Amino acid sequence: MNDTLTILGLESSCDDTAAAILRVGDTAEILAQTVQGQGQLHAAFGGVVPEIAARAHAEKLDLCVAEVLRASGLKLRDMDAIAVTAGPGLIGGVMSGVMCAKGLAAGANLPLIGVNHLAGHALTPRLTDNVPYPYLMLLVSGGHCQFLRVDGPQDYTRLGGTIDDAPGEAFDKTARLLGLPQPGGPAVEVEAALGDPARYAFPRPMLDRPGCDMSFSGLKTALLRTRDTIIAAQGGLTVQDRRDLCAGFQAAMRDALAEKARRALAACPDLRVIAVAGGVAANQAIRGALMQVAAEAGVQFVAPPLALCTDNAAMIAYAGAELFRAGHRDDMTLAARPRWPLDSTAPAMLGSGRKGAKA
Ligand code: KG4
Ligand code: ZN
Repeated sequence: MNDTLTILGLESSCDDTAAAILRVGDTAEILAQTVQGQGQLHAAFGGVVPEIAARAHAEKLDLCVAEVLRASGLKLRDMDAIAVTAGPGLIGGVMSGVMCAKGLAAGANLPLIGVNHLAGHALTPRLTDNVPYPYLMLLVSGGHCQFLRVDGPQDYTRLGGTIDDAPGEAFDKTARLLGLPQPGGPAVEVEAALGDPARYAFPRPMLDRPGCDMSFSGLKTALLRTRDTIIAAQGGLTVQDRRDLCAGFQAAMRDALAEKARRALAACPDLRVIAVAGGVAANQAIRGALMQVAAEAGVQFVAPPLALCTDNAAMIAYAGAELFRAGHRDDMTLAARPRWPLDSTAPAMLGSGRKGAKA
């Protein structure tokens, strides 16, 4: 990369309102960033309520922008462009972000760049580790699950994805079924570490089918059935039953993701790096299994720090910088898109998750 760019990024596609200012030259530096979660607003509803999320984004976005400008000591006129998530996601939140970015861009006479949220995740290994193209990316979160071959900022090939639940969604549902707190992933991981993964045998979904597509809703149903069988037999779950159920579930999830990662790497023998992003990448068992798959295949494993794996605006500013360099510009006709697959040639995946569209 050559010229240094200073970019303001905005993110509001799900339940985090975020802003960041990046300086991107040969490497990228995060000058300031903030992420304001909405967990408490949605807690009573057991999931993200789109209308509440959209209103909270509209209230918080300009405060987030003011905060990162103050923290960086910069003014809006010091920016080279404004990058904003224009999809995919919950449409009200995406619209809040796009409207805010349009206002700022028009007011300060700056270029506007609409960024695909998934591209933000997919390019994060370049922001954090300067990973060169091409590389393999596994996006694995509460709303997304896909393997992508990344050849450039606008060049993605989807090798496979979930046809129903995202893994984080399955962890969260498992926690709910077992009376554990939300978000479920960390809670299930803690219990699983104390459990016996072999006591209850759960299916390794879709391993009998070729390719890299995945499915996790059957795993959740299997867990529900096993839980109910135990309760019917003994009147409730012991602490150890719960731990063993968590361990069995997590092992099935780990094996399914690891085997599909093995296949994705086998399908792209020219790739030297596999990277992960998304909240589920925090799971030590899953991370360990992916690391082992990478070692077996002789490729590098890259996992950005967790704060940049989960939803944030630094990744949007960074993707905006790459698009800007590639000559991409948007104008006041930029539209918010609920669905926006990175690989427009791949067939649409089924369904839409609790946190928005899956692909
Ligand atoms: O990427 P993220 O913060 O938000 C989006 O989904 O966009 O991911 C959140 C998801 C939640 O479903 C949460 O349960 C899961 O990531 N998660 C984990 C762990 N930490 C967070 N899942 C498994 N193990 C973990 N340690
Ligand atoms: Zn995300």
